[in-house]
Amino acid sequence: MFEIAPSILSADFSRLADDIAAAEKGGATVLHVDVMDGHFVPNITIGLPVVKSLRKATTITIDTHLMISDPGRYAVEFVNAGADMVSVHVEADHHLHRTLTSIREAGAKAGIAINPGTPLMALEETLYYADFVLLMSVNPGFGGQRFIPTSLDKIRRLRQMILERGLETRIEVDGGIDESNISEVVDAGAEIIVAGSAVYGSGDAAGSVRTLIEAGTVWV
Ligand code: DX5
Ligand code: ZN
Repeated sequence: MFEIAPSILSADFSRLADDIAAAEKGGATVLHVDVMDGHFVPNITIGLPVVKSLRKATTITIDTHLMISDPGRYAVEFVNAGADMVSVHVEADHHLHRTLTSIREAGAKAGIAINPGTPLMALEETLYYADFVLLMSVNPGFGGQRFIPTSLDKIRRLRQMILERGLETRIEVDGGIDESNISEVVDAGAEIIVAGSAVYGSGDAAGSVRTLIEAGTVWV
């Protein structure tokens, strides 16, 4: 069982509501919103006002991926703006336990995002306070990059880590996923699949979401 979370980073920002509706029509159940500050990552995208507008435009689960420095300063504001899921990077937060707890207390699902170069060991102490882990399979900052192949083993090891601790933490994987590799990513243990260019690069977002769902479904 997995969900597709289209990333609006690759959508047309002048017609976001239409692009989101198209993805929903194809079966997307989560909307992935990439927030970048030009400091933690070398790109600037969107922030709180856009999340507020999206909340009015759709009832779909809004998943905000905060690629910003000092995310603890803003995490609860994203919940108040309408986010249902908020992830913060382990590399960016000196007080991760506090931030995760505050997201949960504000009523949203709290996630830890982790870069390709950061070992899973960095999750050791805080995994207990997270509802999901956002495992990056590209270096954050841009859509349309290639999936880093060693991410598959990292997903498997994360799944093992979660099982060993008796947790129900969900695994979300982000970056470079398309119909050619989605089944491997799902098979490794991912439950939420982010896809930007694979959904919005084709000109047919609904059809692309359907294709991904089909390609990721493992028939037994
Ligand atoms: C990258 C973002 C991703 C990105 C995914 O920093 O976190 O969510 O939009 O785009 P694709 O699917 O094109 O790699
Ligand atoms: Zn993302």
